This record gives sequence, structure tokens and C-alpha cells, in this order.
Amino acid sequence: MADLQGVLDEIAAEMSERRDRGAVASYIPQLARVDPARFGIAVALVDGRVLTAGDAEESFSIQSVSKVFTLTLALGKVGDALWRRVGREPSGNPFNSIVQLEHEGGVPRNPFINPGAIVVADILLAGHQPREAIGEILRFMRFLADDDSIVIDHQVAASERATGFRNSALANYMKSFGNLDHSPELALGVYFHHCAIAMNCRQLALAGRFLADRGRSAGGHTVVSAERARRISALMLTCGHYDGSGDFAFRVGIPAKSGVGGGILGAVPGVGSVAVWSPGLNAHGNSQLGTLALENLARAMNWSVF
Ligand code: DON
Repeated sequence: MADLQGVLDEIAAEMSERRDRGAVASYIPQLARVDPARFGIAVALVDGRVLTAGDAEESFSIQSVSKVFTLTLALGKVGDALWRRVGREPSGNPFNSIVQLEHEGGVPRNPFINPGAIVVADILLAGHQPREAIGEILRFMRFLADDDSIVIDHQVAASERATGFRNSALANYMKSFGNLDHSPELALGVYFHHCAIAMNCRQLALAGRFLADRGRSAGGHTVVSAERARRISALMLTCGHYDGSGDFAFRVGIPAKSGVGGGILGAVPGVGSVAVWSPGLNAHGNSQLGTLALENLARAMNWSVF
């Protein structure tokens, strides 16, 4: 293997120099306060090594990256029945778009766009109070990363709830089609809180390692079957960057999921997971330099799945 630490150091140095950092998300006011100059990257290899560079120990809001983990939990609860309520196709639309829902019976195209993740949150509620479902998600993240210090940033959750009019619209619209079992408020409560989980690159890479290691977590536990890990990765590749998924696959070629906090989690089958963070976003709401960093990493290490 090429000198991975050297490659990561080089990427972090290059990214800190760049001016074209994209724009920090501002539609969730609390996210607009983040310093756009930050850049971190971490790789958790299946052989157990963890390598980092830049601001890899600094926490950020994982936002939509959390959808990978809520999907994993929900599949564990209801199995393939989940696919009766959520599709598995790329949407070709922004993450908060409502247009397809009208013609598609209130069934979101995939679990990574906002309406899909709100249905997944509804599945995780399963008759419980949001507090219990949120607690279960947080415990899952701590278990996967083997790190009890992971927390929810309640200010981010409150900021998103206060301004989440589109997500409310999506939830209410799906409720009208009968695709939410609970009230929109309860499903959104779970959704806003899991998006507000704060983690650093090291923790996120460790948490996502099971995807690269046939379902086995960093702590050596079997979290999901190898087949399920493969299928979740397939969805990340096809849908993980919304209407930017094709371009991401073209440039990077690694199954990955982005979030508007500027984080991206990627999984290289049989090799390891990688988490990158740079808060500035491109036009699709995906980290601008995070994407470039992964493109450079995939090229240097020959990590594209293609
Ligand atoms: O619902 C929202 O808008 C945010 N909590 C999450 C969106 C997100 O991360 C989209 N990612 N690029």
C-alpha cells in the first residue's frame, strides 16, 4: 500500500491552502457559525489501524451522514419490509425536494433524501417516545465507534426544528398518504436529533467501518450481514450525494454519504472507511473540499470501486 499517512498529510496541507471552499450551510442558522477553514480526514482500516490528518479530532454536525446509521438500525428492526415504504432509486433532485412524492404515492425515492430518512425515523419510533428512539440511535453510534463521548448538539437540533418548514411539509405530505405511522412532529423530532449528532472524523470513520469490513464493527462485532453492508454501500454510491451522486461516483468512485455539516463518510470494500470534513458546500449541498479530498485519496490509493 502507498504511504497512506503521507497521502493524508499531503491532502490536508493542500486543502488548507485552497480558497475555493464552497459556502457553509446557512439554512440551519446554527450551522452557519462554523469556521469554513476547517478540514479533517480520518481512515479506519479493516486491519485496525486508524490514520488521521488535519482537524480530525474536532466535532462537527454529521447531519445527513446519520441517515446511513438510522437506515442500518431500521433494517435491523423491520428487514426488507422497509422497502415497501421507501424506494431504492436515486432521485436526481435536491435532498429536500417534494415534487416526486405527489406522483409516487408519498413513497420517497430512497432513504437518504430527507423524506426517506423521515420515514426511517418513523420506523425507529415503533410506538416509543422520540426520546427512546433518539437514545437508541445515539447508543448505536457510541457502540460502533467504541466511544461513549459522542453526543447530540441540542442547539443544532433546536435550530433545525425552528427553521425546518420544508421537512415539516415533507412529513405532513407523507402522512397524508399514510406513509407515517406516528405524527409528523414525533417523526421529525427523531429526525432532527439524529441529524444533530456531533462527531469528529476519527469517530465517524470508526463508526462506518462495518460497511467496509463485511458488516464487522471496529470492535470486532458483527453489526449486519456482509450482504446488508454491501446493499447499504450500493445505496450510498447511487443516492448518497442526492442530485450530485452521479458526479461523485464519476470523480471519486467510493460509496459515500454526505451531510450539510460538510462531512462525508465513505466505505472502501475490504480496505476501510474514510471520514472527511470541510464545512463549505457545493451547489448540491455536499462538501466541496471533502469531495476533492476523497477524489485525490481514491486516486492516490487506487481505492475507486471501479
Ligand atoms: O434536514 C435537513 O435539511 C438536514 N438535517 C440534513 C440535510 C443534509 O445533510 C443534506 N446533505 N447534504
